Amino acid sequence: MAKVVLPLALLFVTPFDPSLLVDHSCLSNNFYGNYHDAGKIWSVLLPDTQCLETWTSKSQDTSASIVQPKTEIQQLVWLEEEAVDVSVKTQTRSFQNEFDSFLDALSDNIPPDNSDLLQLAMGMSIRSGEYELLYRTPSAALLSVSHDKARTIDTVLPRFWKSTLLPTSPVTFRPVVTSAISHVERILSQLKFDPVVASTVNNISLAQMKKDIKFLTGEDGKSGIISRHSFSTGALTAASWLKDLFQQTGATCELRPFLIGFAPNVICRYPAVTNTTATVLLSAHYDSRGSFGKTRAPGADDDGSGIVALLSIARTILRKGVKFYSNVELVAFAGEEQGLLGSRAYARELRVAGANLTLMIQADMLAYRAPGEPPQLGLPDKIGSPIVTQLVADVSAIYSPELHVGFTPACCSDHQSFHEQGFPATQVFERAGPIADPMYHNSGDLSDRVGYDFGQLKSIAKVQFATLLHTAGFKLSQ
Ligand SMILES: *[C@@H]1O[C@H](CO)[C@@H](O)[C@H](O)[C@H]1NC(C)=O
Ligand SMILES: *[C@@H]1O[C@H](CO)[C@@H](O)[C@H](O)[C@H]1NC(C)=O
Ligand SMILES: *[C@@H]1O[C@H](CO)[C@@H](O)[C@H](O)[C@H]1NC(C)=O
Ligand SMILES: [Zn+2]
Repeated sequence: MAKVVLPLALLFVTPFDPSLLVDHSCLSNNFYGNYHDAGKIWSVLLPDTQCLETWTSKSQDTSASIVQPKTEIQQLVWLEEEAVDVSVKTQTRSFQNEFDSFLDALSDNIPPDNSDLLQLAMGMSIRSGEYELLYRTPSAALLSVSHDKARTIDTVLPRFWKSTLLPTSPVTFRPVVTSAISHVERILSQLKFDPVVASTVNNISLAQMKKDIKFLTGEDGKSGIISRHSFSTGALTAASWLKDLFQQTGATCELRPFLIGFAPNVICRYPAVTNTTATVLLSAHYDSRGSFGKTRAPGADDDGSGIVALLSIARTILRKGVKFYSNVELVAFAGEEQGLLGSRAYARELRVAGANLTLMIQADMLAYRAPGEPPQLGLPDKIGSPIVTQLVADVSAIYSPELHVGFTPACCSDHQSFHEQGFPATQVFERAGPIADPMYHNSGDLSDRVGYDFGQLKSIAKVQFATLLHTAGFKLSQ
């Protein structure tokens, strides 16, 4: 694998500020994306010294960090602690502690009292000198590691951390274009109860959802799927099964590879009945992550639930003979757990092709409901287009009034990739608060367990489907 060589530059981590990027081309030409830490968005840039001097002479911002890398930068990886409910955190170790141990383990410097870390080091021994820690806060860090290690780092991370690979060349900062937003505003202003939409979305079959999830998790003993990790054979089994099923409902599907070694994205399209470029996209990710050191990764909630919601919509499209006035894409991404890799590739491709996306909605974790809590729908508080989030909230109030709707800080699934490319996007999630699923990133993430609520899953799938029907426009041919 070729080593990624970035130009010799300074690393600059600063609070996200669109005007900074719009006003300084030497910064925006060296922009490597936005990342998260403790509820805030940070931009990572690699500008040269002269550029930074121009900026620092004008700026008052003291929270920005400038770092001079000591070694040649390899693959950059952003690590962050996820927004997780306190009830789920049984261990008392903080990110700080875990991170110290993680680095010790990376450099073969294993504390004798911790067997988890021994496993961790066995799985991924990077010698000191093979990585560089460039930036660190109490809940996030930026590492430079070899390309190969970076791609598998998710398999050795502590459970409530997530990793994102930075792009290997600068990305263009693209705000969502105004015309796209005003299009969604028009749809929102015309939104009202439609009895045909109601009866169509109510036709989603809960019994079928229960069957579909058990194939994906391997709980039915038929699929042979043990894991849907992006590099597993189970992911390939799932991909071809999904392609066949979506095709049976009238879509044209493609298994589209995005990186060697990764299972492909499954991209399915129902063409519009009229001549239009307008496209509405619903998505979820079919790859999964299990417990550290175990091969089993059933991913019933994360994100089998989002995939089953898409399948339930597809099956209903067939049963009811739904035809759309916009093009409709249902997409199952891979590489989400390694840092949104499948969706990044596809969103970039659509941007380059000049795609006309009206909106996209990512579904990630829809089924878990903590005991004693009402059914909920969580919407993103940071990443996404507020107008699309509002549309989804209003649709929910009309067609799934049983859902308590609110914001979640659980951040950033594949909708972020589309948001970054300037497409109107949002996410649907199972809770109006942080992650509370005790089986999150765990080999016990099965559908047959306390808290896995098919009722909530169907309610949220109805919201996705009703948003699609209202946005794309439709007729029933049966
Ligand atoms: C969906 O509609 C079809 C006929 O249009 C009907 O046969 C079927 O029972 C309905 N299913 C559900 C779950 O409502
Ligand atoms: C569809 O519309 C485009 C642009 O308006 C036009 O160029 C094209 O010929 C149309 N195609 C068909 C099949 O009508
Ligand atoms: C995108 O689709 C919308 C809705 O149909 C349409 O009004 C608009 O002209 C399209 N934009 C482009 C660039 O084709
Ligand atoms: Zn997920």
